[in-house]
Order: sequence, then C-alpha cells, then structure tokens
Amino acid sequence: ADAYKGQYAHYTLKEISEQPSTILSAGNNTKLEIDLASDLIKHARNVYITGSGTSYNAALIAKFLFSKYAKIKIDPLISSEAQFSPDMFEEKSILIAISQSGESADVLEAVDIAKKSGSKIISIVNMMTSSLVHQSSISMGLNCGPEIGVAATKSFTSQLVVLYKMVDKICNGCIELDLVKVSEAIKKILSNDSKIKDVAKKLKDVSDIYVLGRGIHYPIASEGSLKLKELTYIHAEGLPGGELKHGPLALMDSDSYVLIINPNDSTYNDTLTSAREIKARGAKIIGISDKPSDVYDYWIDIPSINESLYPLVEIVPIQLLAYYAAIDKDFDPDYPRNLAKSVTVK
Ligand code: G6P
Repeated sequence: ADAYKGQYAHYTLKEISEQPSTILSAGNNTKLEIDLASDLIKHARNVYITGSGTSYNAALIAKFLFSKYAKIKIDPLISSEAQFSPDMFEEKSILIAISQSGESADVLEAVDIAKKSGSKIISIVNMMTSSLVHQSSISMGLNCGPEIGVAATKSFTSQLVVLYKMVDKICNGCIELDLVKVSEAIKKILSNDSKIKDVAKKLKDVSDIYVLGRGIHYPIASEGSLKLKELTYIHAEGLPGGELKHGPLALMDSDSYVLIINPNDSTYNDTLTSAREIKARGAKIIGISDKPSDVYDYWIDIPSINESLYPLVEIVPIQLLAYYAAIDKDFDPDYPRNLAKSVTVK
C-alpha cells in the first residue's frame, strides 16, 4: 500500500495533488450515461439531490448550477434526514444520489425511500461495483481512481465536474466548461503552496475558524470547514457573509481566524465588506482570492477563471491548508480520529 503513495507522505496529499488530472478524467468512463441522465432531468417534474458529508456539499453546489444555468430547480436533501420526510418525494420524481463509495447507509436509505414513491434513481459514484450503482437506473462515474484518505478531496471536485457536465449539456454549452484551464489553475495552486504552509502554521493553536463565502461560494465554505474539522479537529463553520450581522458577529474577536472565499466575481464587493466588518473586531483575515486587498492579513492567491468555474479551484487551497495544519499538529491526515471512509451502518 505504501508504494501506491509514491512520492507523497500521505494519501490525502497525493489525492489533493491528483486533481489536475482527475478534473480532466471525471465522467469520461460514463459519457453516454451523463447524456441520458441530463435528458431525464430536463424533462422531469421534480428533481431531488442527496448525499452525506462532502457529497452533500456537492449537492448544494448542484442546486446553484442547475438553477442558474439550466433553469431547473432541484431540491437538496441530507441523506440521513430522508427518513423523517418520506413524503417529500412526489410520485415519479428523480433522485440524484451522490456518493464516492456508493455504500453509505444513509444514502442507500434515502434511495430506498425515494424508490418506494416510484422515483427514478440517478447516481454519481466513484465505486462502480457498489450497492448504489445496483440501485440506480443510471450511474455516472467519477473515474478518479481509489480515494483512500478519509477526508474526501479529489472525489469532491470530480463530483462537481460531473454535475457541471450535466448542466452544460442541458443548457447547450452555456457554461464555458474549460476544464483544461481549471486543471492549469489547480496546478498553479499546488506548485505555489508555500504561502498556504505559512498560514497553516498560524492555525496551530487556534480553536475556531470561520469560512465565509456568498452565493455559490457558501457551499464551498461549508466543504472547506468540513475539511478543517476532519483533518485539524479545529471547530470550523461555514458562513454566508450576509448572516454575520444576524449572530456570528458576536463571536468575532482578536482570537478569531476567518477564511474569506473571495474570487473576483459578482460576490466580490459584498464579501469584502463582510471581511472589513470582521477585521474591525480584531479578527485575522485569510483571503482566498485572485485580487489582493489590504483587509487580508494573509492572502492566498488563486488564478482568475470564468465566474462559473471558481468553485472547482477555490476548494483546493482550503484542502491544502487543512492538510498542512494537520501535519503541523501531528495528526494523521489520512485516518482522522473517530471517522471512517465509508459509513455502512446507520
Ligand atoms: C463519511 C466520510 C466522508 C464522506 C461521507 C460520504 O462520513 O468520512 O468523507 O464525505 O462519508 O461518503 P460517500 O462515500 O457516500 O460519498
């Protein structure tokens, strides 16, 4: 197994580093299925989408992509919550189930409930021999190779790519889905990670981190905070910037660290305003952006890209930050305490 890690100290770092190529191969093993699934969704009356953990965060991104570009409403549902709302699946709906392993008990249960209401299951899966594939009418493959690290990294960006491909198919290519550009952007971040390592050192004794993003960047903030929790055991919380004034601002003081996801797009100015409000309370601001600002105590530079594609790029520095912070704290990033790669019991 060690040989498989190759030059890398941990699977997690290897898997983060594979993303320039896994972005390009995502879904390539199931191109026809992507077309078929997109067609079904285009003509469906009700579409739901479900997953657990990281896969649920991908479902939240899907909601944005489908409504903005394909003009289709899809309803995200946390898989473990499905049992409490069995009536939400209307007859003949479609449920998109997202799972790296295809074995999460919670996801399989949500699928079971949806099937009882006569719904069709479309899945996005990495393990193509899994139970979820057997339960689905159509399965689309992530095609990213085995993911060993418990914290999902490359499978997340591959899930997003499959979702982008579906949306792009439905809107007849309205997303300029230039995956080579995304791949190049991720390469740049990976090869220029010294700043990320420096910032990781600052997090050593920090007890709370907030990750802030607006619009489509809010689910990325949630996913980033999940990586920080899993790998560093630091309490981390994703926040939509506009909600600060409705509560979280009360928590901000000179001990707070706030990661600001702020690409140069339509969310930029509002997010910067939030950053200034937090900074005024003495908090340390880590900006993830393609545009520098005096408000950032630390600036993690990301390449500029089409507005629709930032989510695929901006999660990578947060994955790296969580990884390096775990190393600095002497935690095993591949096998975080109390967690399992695939939770097959309820
Ligand atoms: C576990 C893992 C998470 C993962 C979740 C869903 O909780 O620790 O990293 O996101 O399961 O896994 P799945 O295989 O269904 O995507």
